[in-house]
Amino acid sequence: MSNNIHPIFDRLLQRQDRERRLNQKSKVLWLTGLSGSGKSTIAQHLERKLHNEGYFAQVLDGDNIRSGINNNLGFSIEDRQENIRRIAEIAKLYANSGVIVLASFISPTIAIRQMAKDIIGENDFEEVYINAPLATCEDRDVKGLYQKARKGEIKGFTGIDSPYEAPASPSIEIKTNEQTIEESVQTIYNSILPLIKL
Ligand code: ADX
Repeated sequence: MSNNIHPIFDRLLQRQDRERRLNQKSKVLWLTGLSGSGKSTIAQHLERKLHNEGYFAQVLDGDNIRSGINNNLGFSIEDRQENIRRIAEIAKLYANSGVIVLASFISPTIAIRQMAKDIIGENDFEEVYINAPLATCEDRDVKGLYQKARKGEIKGFTGIDSPYEAPASPSIEIKTNEQTIEESVQTIYNSILPLIKL
């Protein structure tokens, strides 16, 4: 008779089940820093490194978020906040699927990053400060946007006429003008290994 009763907890797959399948603990690494500081480059190299070492990781950055789900958002403080809110919700879904998330966004203010942390949950959130001096980012000017911002062709550019607040106590800090990409990736990899190992 009781054979027909299937309690819901038997059917719901838990995060731990997925983590066991993937043989890892999920985490959200939250990379913050100025435009041109090296966030996305480091995230992409770290994703590759994790993949090669047998981990299951996914980068979230402007390329897959601002061109898609957030393509209606600009760069006012309100839009940046909504950008980060949605990203944090997406990162949380990934983390609950057992995935290691590498979120790479300027996320310019302490309040915006606190919101992301609140959504994701502090146990799953690791703040990684990709620190490069503004002058270095401006010299690199990979996308030519600093020059445009200086000329006034872009308004409200982070570091020029829109604020960037550095993290007060990040889990990890990387100075990209003092380390190579490989060294930066290795530093982050070494410090997250104990967190993602099952
Ligand atoms: S965030 O502030 O909302 O976290 P996000 O990381 O998604 O920003 O996007 C930053 C990228 O958008 C920059 O690397 C740059 O290529 C581009 N961008 C365009 N306009 C701006 C702007 N006003 N300020 C900063 N970045 C901008």
